[in-house]
Amino acid sequence: MARFQHPLPPARWPSAAEAASSRLFSPIALRGNCVAETRTWVPAMVPWRASDAGDVTDAVIDWYGRFAEGRPGVLVVEATGIRDIPSGPLLRIGHDRCVPGLQRLVDEVRRRSGGHTRLLIQIIDFLSIRRRPPREKFFRRFLMVTDAHRAAIAARTGDDEWLSRDAGDVCEWLLAESDDVHRAVLDAREYESLSMGARERVTDTHLPHVAELPRVLPGLFADAARRAEEAGFDGVELHYAHAYTMASFLSRTNARTDGYGGSIEGRARLPLEVFHAARGAVSEDFVVGCRFLGDDVIEGGSRIDDACDFARLFAEAGMDFLSVSKGGRFEDAKQPRVGAAAYPYTGKSGHECMPTVFMEDAPPFGRNVPLSAAIRAAVRDAGHTTPVVAAGGINGFDLAEGILQREEADLVAAARQSLADPDWWEKMRTGRGADVRRCLYTNYCEALDQRHQAVTCQLWDRLPVADGEPEPARSADGRRRLLPPRSRAPGSGDS
Ligand SMILES: Cc1cc2nc3c(=O)[nH]c(=O)nc-3n(C[C@H](O)[C@H](O)[C@H](O)COP(=O)(O)O)c2cc1C
Ligand code: SF4
Repeated sequence: MARFQHPLPPARWPSAAEAASSRLFSPIALRGNCVAETRTWVPAMVPWRASDAGDVTDAVIDWYGRFAEGRPGVLVVEATGIRDIPSGPLLRIGHDRCVPGLQRLVDEVRRRSGGHTRLLIQIIDFLSIRRRPPREKFFRRFLMVTDAHRAAIAARTGDDEWLSRDAGDVCEWLLAESDDVHRAVLDAREYESLSMGARERVTDTHLPHVAELPRVLPGLFADAARRAEEAGFDGVELHYAHAYTMASFLSRTNARTDGYGGSIEGRARLPLEVFHAARGAVSEDFVVGCRFLGDDVIEGGSRIDDACDFARLFAEAGMDFLSVSKGGRFEDAKQPRVGAAAYPYTGKSGHECMPTVFMEDAPPFGRNVPLSAAIRAAVRDAGHTTPVVAAGGINGFDLAEGILQREEADLVAAARQSLADPDWWEKMRTGRGADVRRCLYTNYCEALDQRHQAVTCQLWDRLPVADGEPEPARSADGRRRLLPPRSRAPGSGDS
């Protein structure tokens, strides 16, 4: 059966004059002297181009330089780790040695945007997640056999000898059994470790490094913010969204009993302490805001009411912007194959985070705007002017301008549309909208992200290399362009 697919809505593009008088292309102050020239925003997207030590590479520089050419009002550099720990080719800002590389990135963006783009970096902490182990490895190396396992096996087999059998015998017996038996004998966390890979939670306070998160994270985020300022960024986006540590503190699933969980105030406490520490580590004009979830989407998670409460607290604390995302949690992720780690964008919450044209209920276009609208209204009702950023399937002028005109957000973010065509902002602004290469919202790019492969867009490879264009850099298999093609001459319709 053919897969259901929403059509791309027809696009209407503005003339240069209409763009010039639009809200979308009007400025907005983020903080003090830091003004975004337009309300256009490229949110964080991990392209998997850093080195294995988390350093900025030439590929990282090329990537952000290319996005800068589209001159968005704000460009946010990908989720960047605040700890200097091995985490694959994820960019890091966890050590002073990271600063010179990031400085190069900043210089490139300033140069190629002609100084028109404000540059933020998203800073992130995450807990450990392991790959799904082979069964043999799990039972022979990872499982800590307890009397509960022995009792469960004795009950199943009717043989009380199991109550005193060696751990090795218990493991071998389990290894030979079916998934149903594993589900019945193991506890929920053990079964999760076997079937998905072990994943730490902020509620694992029996683990000293998890218990002490409230004591270490403010300092780590503050150091990262200081380094970001040293590198020349305009500000930081504290990553309080999706599957990561800070979002898990905010989530309704956070039942910590040490004052950092439970109530709204308890769950917001560490995010606020982190914010104050970061704010205190940087100068007056440096922007500090956050990205957080308007809805966790998962069962038992936070909903829009929680998000509105958090937004009021964040605005009152003095955050410079609130960027709203949705879902992207581990709790409902699909089972990974053996040897791979769970990816938080594979379940319902993930689909809401990066909505596709295959969503059965409603199309992806502007799908998450009701969340930013409710958050903005709550913040304004509380008397704050904090700018709110909307994202999710925003792919056209009328959609973006309508969101701003209806005051559903103060800035509009487009991730995949900007990936498909980083020049789309400039094309719209200069009346060349007909040349925009429009995102298909089928998530080829997201599938690459899932495999931690260099992210590219399927549309880039549909274009032939133009006469006179140098042979583009390609992925190792030679099939994929690593950078968006240059836009052709006005009116050539390169989409
Ligand atoms: C390849 C890829 C990588 C992403 N990486 C991040 C990230 O590092 N941090 C983040 O907050 N969101 C990340 N996102 C989510 C986007 O910022 C955005 O919220 C989401 O794609 C929905 O917006 P869109 O419909 O305009 O693409 C990523 C999205 C994609 C497609
Ligand atoms: S790969 Fe597909 S979903 Fe991703 S940016 Fe390109 S067209 Fe859009």
